[in-house]
Amino acid sequence: MHSILSLAAAAGLLATASATRLPSVNVPSCPRVGSISYSKSVPDLTPFPRTQVDLCYTDKSLELTFIAYDEVNYFFNASQGTNDDIWEYEVMEAFIYKGTEDPQTYVELEVNPNNVTYQAFVYNPSKNRAVGAPFDHFFVSDPATDGFSAKTVLNKPAKTWKSSVTVPLGIFNVDVGKARGTSWRMNFFRTVVSPEIYPNQILGGWSPPDQASFHITKFFGRVNFV
Ligand SMILES: *[C@@H]1O[C@H](CO)[C@@H](O)[C@H](O)[C@H]1NC(C)=O
Ligand SMILES: *[C@@H]1O[C@H](CO)[C@@H](O)[C@H](O)[C@H]1NC(C)=O
Repeated sequence: MHSILSLAAAAGLLATASATRLPSVNVPSCPRVGSISYSKSVPDLTPFPRTQVDLCYTDKSLELTFIAYDEVNYFFNASQGTNDDIWEYEVMEAFIYKGTEDPQTYVELEVNPNNVTYQAFVYNPSKNRAVGAPFDHFFVSDPATDGFSAKTVLNKPAKTWKSSVTVPLGIFNVDVGKARGTSWRMNFFRTVVSPEIYPNQILGGWSPPDQASFHITKFFGRVNFV
């Protein structure tokens, strides 16, 4: 009995420890930014090309600036357009949820070096894309009218690409001017793919999940709009 209680206590401590290991960032109102960067692969935590995301909010939007360093492939499929499977090639991604829990529903946002975007609400009630569980995407069918936009600049001599992406806060039920003080869970990812290794990919992330999947929401980091 005593040892079972100790085990339970130890498990509780471990759960607390792993919860507090989540990365976090404070996000100010624009033009100041909160900045994250990562350089570890998913799930092995081996070196990965450095990737940065600057975040700030306005009255109506979340502004994300994705910067990929050490890019050599710039690999995308020119026949793909909005909401196509651009994640099969090279993308930078944000998974976004307003709230503090491990989410079942969140926005998946992606941009590729060809300035093509993907934006969908994900329904993932198992929170880890469990085999046999529902896993659905509800695509944003008119992103430009809704207030999404992207601007992408490639700098091949510097081996970078940068996308500045606007996300309307209304889709998260944040009313105009009410972003300050809200708490979020987010994760950020990048895929590295060359024509030689396609369809295999090298994955990197801000809060790397312990499996080669981006859809494990207990790993989403903490983001506070201040
Ligand atoms: C791009 O997509 C098209 C249509 O799915 C496919 O036929 C083509 O092989 C793809 N190109 C590359 C480079 O993967
Ligand atoms: C990228 O797409 C946006 C719309 O999201 C457009 O306004 C912009 O001109 C495009 N081009 C570049 C180079 O960013």
